[in-house]
This record gives sequence, C-alpha cells and structure tokens, in this order.
Amino acid sequence: MTLPFSAERPREYAPIPPPIRRRRDVAVALPPGPRTLPGGLTARFLRDTPAFLLDLHRTYGDVASFWLNGQLFYAFFSPEGVVDVTVKKQHSFINGVGFERMAKVLGTGLLTSEEPIHLRHRRMMQPPFHHHQLAEYAATMQRITRDHVAGWRAGDEVRANDELMRLTFQIVAQLLFGTEIDRYAEGVQHHMGVAIDRIERTMLPGLDRFDRSRVPYFAKFKESSDYLATVADDIIVRRVAAAEKGEPLGDDLLGLLLAARDADDGSALSHDEVRDETLTLILSGHETTANVLTWAMCHLRDRDDVWSALATEADEYLPDGESPDLRRVISAPTAHAAMNEAMRLAPPVWVAPRRALEEVEIAGVTVPRGAHVLVSQYASHRSERFFQHPDAFMPERWANDFESTLPRGAYFPFGAGTRKCLGDQFALLESHIILMEFARTLRPRPTASGLPKAEPRATYRPAGGVPATIVAAS
Ligand code: HEM
Repeated sequence: MTLPFSAERPREYAPIPPPIRRRRDVAVALPPGPRTLPGGLTARFLRDTPAFLLDLHRTYGDVASFWLNGQLFYAFFSPEGVVDVTVKKQHSFINGVGFERMAKVLGTGLLTSEEPIHLRHRRMMQPPFHHHQLAEYAATMQRITRDHVAGWRAGDEVRANDELMRLTFQIVAQLLFGTEIDRYAEGVQHHMGVAIDRIERTMLPGLDRFDRSRVPYFAKFKESSDYLATVADDIIVRRVAAAEKGEPLGDDLLGLLLAARDADDGSALSHDEVRDETLTLILSGHETTANVLTWAMCHLRDRDDVWSALATEADEYLPDGESPDLRRVISAPTAHAAMNEAMRLAPPVWVAPRRALEEVEIAGVTVPRGAHVLVSQYASHRSERFFQHPDAFMPERWANDFESTLPRGAYFPFGAGTRKCLGDQFALLESHIILMEFARTLRPRPTASGLPKAEPRATYRPAGGVPATIVAAS
C-alpha cells in the first residue's frame, strides 16, 4: 500500500512540460493582460483569486495573459474558449496547478488522475451514478435530511455552513460506506476540512515545495492526508475480508466500486485505486454541495416568496409518504432555479486549471506548450453579455427555459467534456431534496443580512461558518 501523500507521479501519465518563464521563449503574440511588477500581481492574485480573474475578464474581455511566480498563464472567459479548453481540445491539456497538491490526498482518484488511468476509472465508475442507481439513493438522502432537521428547534443558534457540511457528509458517507463510517465520521470530516484548507491558493505554482517541511501548517497537511487514507484502507480491508468469508460485498458505493470490472479486460480496481476513488467521492461529494447550499441560504435569507414556492413545490414533487422520484425531484422548477442561480454566483468549483501539453489554438489564440491555462466558472458566470444584472441573485432569470438560450460554455458549474462532474445529478437530487425539506419544516436563516466574505479554497467557501438562527417555515 502506498499512501497518496508520498506516491510518485504514475509512469503512465504524460510528462509535465516545463513552464514558460520568459517572454522571449514565446514565439507568438500574447493576449493583453496586467504587466505590473511580479510581486504586486502575486499579492493581488493571493488576496482574492476569483476577484482577480473577474477583474481580468472585465478589463481585457474574452482572453487575458499574465505572469505569476514567473510562469505564463492564459485565462479564457468566452463560451468558445471554455468549450475549446474543456471539450474540443481537452486532449491537449492535463490538469494544472493545484491538482498535484490535491493528488497528495486523492492519489489517482477521478478528480486528480490523468490519462490513461482517468478514462479507465471513469468508465468503471459511471454505473453507480446512472439514473436507476441514483433513484435508489434518493430515499436515503431524504431520510438523513429529515433526521438532521429533527435535531433542530426553532430559535436554535447554529452555523449554517457547519450544519450543511455535516448533513452532506452524512449523506455521501452513508451512501458510500453504509454504517461502517460512523465511528470515523468526526475524524474524517475534520481531516477532510484540513486537507481542503491546505489545498488553498489552488493556482499558485511552487507552493508544494513546502509540503514536506516541518512547519506545522504544512505538516498537518500530510497528517490529515495519511489519516484519511488509513481510515479508507481499514474500511476496505474489512469489507473485502468479510466478502472472502461469504458475506455480500454490499450495495453501497463501496460495494459497487469493489465489484466494478473494466469492460475491455475484465480487471478490477486495485485496493489503492478503490481507496483513492472513495476519498475522491467523499471530498468532491460533500464540500461542494454544502458550500453552494450555504450560499443559497444567504441569498435566500429574505426571500420568503421563494421559500413558500419551494414548500408548495415540495408537496407536488416530493410528496410526503411517497418514495422520492428522481426525475420529478430534479425537475422541480423553483429548486432548480435557486440552485442554478446559487451555482452561477457561488460556483463551488470556481476555476479549472489546466496545462498545455502541446501548442494548441484556443478560441483563435495560439497557446504555447507548457503554458498554464485557466477557465473560471466564477468569472464567466458573471458575464454581462449573457446575464443581465450579473452580480444580482435572481432565481427568476432561470424561468422559461432560460438555460437553453445560453450558448454552450456560458454556464458550466459542473464543467464539461470527459472531466465533467461525475456527481452532477447526485448533487442536484440531493440539493433539491434538502431545499424542499427545509422549506416545509425548518431552515437555518443567516444572522447577518449581507453576504459573508468568501474564502476560496479548493472550493468556493463562505468564511466564518455563517452564524444562523433556525426558523420555521412560514
Ligand atoms: C453542486 C455540487 C457540485 C459541483 C458544482 C461540482 C462541480 C464539479 C466540476 C466543475 C468538476 C470538474 C472539475 C474540472 O473540470 O477540473 C467536477 C468533477 C468531479 N465531481 Fe463534482 N461537483 C459537485 C458535486 C459532486 C458530487 C455530489 C460528487 C459525487 C458524489 C462529485 C464528484 C465529482 C467527481 C468524481 C469529479 C471528477 C470527474 C472526472 O474528472 O472524471 N461532484 N465537479
């Protein structure tokens, strides 16, 4: 067993091309961009990376270039640029800055792996996320949400983000491991939080050189990564041992991953691969949804009209006493609009960093081999060209099938191409259930009327846990 933190880059992966460090190494014209003193730009970038990217978009338009820590970056904001990078020319790229640090926790899991490992795993992991399978998860999602809400009383003071983190963690952890996770739940949640926090400054090249230092901040990163891997290992070893004694593998996600076989050669995922995939599903499957739902609570704080529409919708799309129906839940219009708008303004995955493996043309711009390339949900979703009053939270804009009027690549909260989110339907199903259950019973109403400060890490988090009061549905 090799722990992800210490694992070498798999030999199957393409070699990472060297970064571009000097203007004279670039034979083509660079798109416009800030050309300030290097230190000044890094400071601006670090202070608030999403705001930095939005500023680039609003100042320079569809594409910009800049130098960060002495390395060349391109940022594409137009739908055409987004589609070229994520779909049409996706094979000219590998995952970019930040992903290597993420791989220290998630190893060769889907989020961090590269070809050819990624596609093999993607094919094997798709079935547990097919519609008929998701339909099986809906009842568990609803039961766990109801149990969570049952622990609240109107007037309780809570931290909305902590509550939603706990709730979404319980959902994904139960669906993944069943009750075996219970005794580790607190530790796993704590160490996931530390790991995600340390994957901060996702796009600053060179940060990983401190990871092996004894500085406590960085040492904790390794400690948390090792803890998570050890817990997942333990659960997998026990499950496999029980199966060898004749017990069923289980119909939770772990059981499905252990039973998955490659359609080409019939091979199974190795122990380390299953471990990395389970950690990937826990990480990508709770933090994202919890954060966007917390932002939704903030934006919807004073929108009683939306909450009562959601409550009415719950009766129709999630009727009491009936098992939730996947298609109906996902098609609930107010929940859909609230989620779409929350993911527009606070996309949990707010940037997709890539690295050009070869010279490639993106939206008419030649990008040289080795350049860093970014597309950003946060910046593109605020484009004035496609969204009137782009900074305003207006779920109403999604009425009348507004989404279908947008060009491909204008709105992409779940990414696109072969790296598109594996859990998009899972996330929508879960969030709609949570919103509708909150609307019909109790919900956390943030204490402060303005929006919390953002704390962009591997995901777009609200800072400070978001103090809130539990209020009853009106
Ligand atoms: C609102 C919630 C969510 C959002 C906005 C979201 C968004 C995304 C995005 C944008 C990517 C692509 C990253 C890239 O292009 O580099 C991604 C990948 C991924 N997501 Fe999600 N996600 C969410 C929830 C989930 C859930 C609930 C799961 C699993 C239960 C999940 C599992 C994954 C996995 C496995 C990948 C890697 C896919 C691949 O590269 O093949 N996500 N997600």
